[in-house]
Amino acid sequence: MLVAGNWKMNLSHADAVGLAADVVAAVAADADDVGVAVCPPAIWLDAVAERLRDSEVRLGAQNVHPAASGAFTGEVAASMLDDLGVEYVIVGHSERRQLFGETSAFVAEKVRAAQAARLAPILCVGETLEERESGDAEAIVLAQLADSLAEVESADLVVAYEPVWAIGTGRTASPEQAQAMHAAIRGALAARFEEGEDIEILYGGSVKPDNAAELFAQPDLDGALVGGASLDAASFAAIVAAARASMDADDAC
Ligand code: PGA
Repeated sequence: MLVAGNWKMNLSHADAVGLAADVVAAVAADADDVGVAVCPPAIWLDAVAERLRDSEVRLGAQNVHPAASGAFTGEVAASMLDDLGVEYVIVGHSERRQLFGETSAFVAEKVRAAQAARLAPILCVGETLEERESGDAEAIVLAQLADSLAEVESADLVVAYEPVWAIGTGRTASPEQAQAMHAAIRGALAARFEEGEDIEILYGGSVKPDNAAELFAQPDLDGALVGGASLDAASFAAIVAAARASMDADDAC
């Protein structure tokens, strides 16, 4: 399982470094099967990397440009992230798709560039409210997934199902809605890659300490991509604790 915090465009330098230190302290435990990562704004990656050193908490970035280098003002290459010790990079987040016009074809280029630099992409897919209400959410999400994986050869990636209507709205997909979509995504990944059924599928969209346990109880939920609640170390740690508890419950079966 993996619980990743997406800090989005929040926090001063001092606050980012402070939150990183608080997260390290709050999630400290024996090494277990729940991976924990934080994804600060790019400009704070270096400072946060310093705070995470020698801890179990991994570093992720929120974006990457597909090119190796060159005239792309304001962008960051995968090799630069790798240089800083970044292990994950979020690609295809709905905010990038909607606000910055990123297409699935462009997202696929990012997936390939990240993998080439040994970063694990966290590939986000999800439908809008209109799309869900049309009854076609599954077909839309699976098409987005397929297009965002164009010419991708490696299964070294994480997928995050994030219904757009649940992001930052306080409205979460029900555990049943999330499970149904995760199962469909799992099936598509199994058909797409040899080891596809082992790809971790995170849920994202208003995950909080009080709804994490019921989401993680679903068989095809392998963790969470957490926005708002990741800005508070105690809330984030509570979500990590729910993931650990769900793994212990699985072990007991
Ligand atoms: P949220 O954001 O938890 O604030 O809904 C999730 C995300 O955008 O990854």
